[in-house]
Amino acid sequence: LCNLMSATNNNLLPQHVSIIMDGNGRWAKQRGKERTEGHIEGVESVRACTEYAAERGIKYLSLFAFSEENWGRPQEEVEALMSLMVKCISAETPTFTKNNIRFVVLGNLERLSEGLRTEIADCMALTAGNTGLTLILFLSYSGKWDIVQAANRVLASNGGEGEITMEQLEAALCTRAAAIPDPDLLIRTSGEMRISNYMLWQSAYTEYYFTDILWPDFRKNEFKAALEDYAKRERRYGKV
Ligand code: IPE
Ligand code: IPE
Ligand code: MG
Repeated sequence: LCNLMSATNNNLLPQHVSIIMDGNGRWAKQRGKERTEGHIEGVESVRACTEYAAERGIKYLSLFAFSEENWGRPQEEVEALMSLMVKCISAETPTFTKNNIRFVVLGNLERLSEGLRTEIADCMALTAGNTGLTLILFLSYSGKWDIVQAANRVLASNGGEGEITMEQLEAALCTRAAAIPDPDLLIRTSGEMRISNYMLWQSAYTEYYFTDILWPDFRKNEFKAALEDYAKRERRYGKV
């Protein structure tokens, strides 16, 4: 269990890098294209970053692809995003197998279509034994949802007796339940400096990196720059 805690050593490669992939719509708008075109181009950045993370020996790369709040977007855009997910997951499965990538999806999956859920379950089952990079996609996820589902899990296992401990709650977060450590580095693209209800609990001591680059333009060199910035930081965890 101890390797679930992030490395405290400084100047190391982060064990878990997470990215809030933002700015697809603005990227498209700048080019006079539909927002969906931005999402399609964003997939290329996902490919480039996954490849680079594997190349650098990063153990966990997680991507915020769709928030619970994103369900409130126009139906047309939600549908376009969902069908893009189905297409991409099925198209990338052979690549995951070839490159020893384990694929994990986290979030409130009950809200997803059955077709997408089947695609996800198949890909996760097929790649479960892979030992290289773990690629995590956060879908229909929100940090508050995660904390509440964790509390409910603990309550159910306690049979409603006694107080919930911090350790119990932490262990029931969807990331910990899937043996995924807290993120060391959290990147957000597109110049927004907010967390947008992402891993609220898990990012308590995460290092943040904000860049103005829009997600479809975030590729290997931009990723490399973020890693270089991280390497210069000193993580103190409240100590001296
Ligand atoms: C990120 O890009 C992708 C998702 C949230 C699904 P956006 O679609 O939020 O793009 P902007 O922020 O409107 O430019
Ligand atoms: C955050 O981006 C969610 C994802 C990247 C999936 P949003 O574009 O939804 O965030 P806000 O609305 O700007 O905070
Ligand atoms: Mg956005």
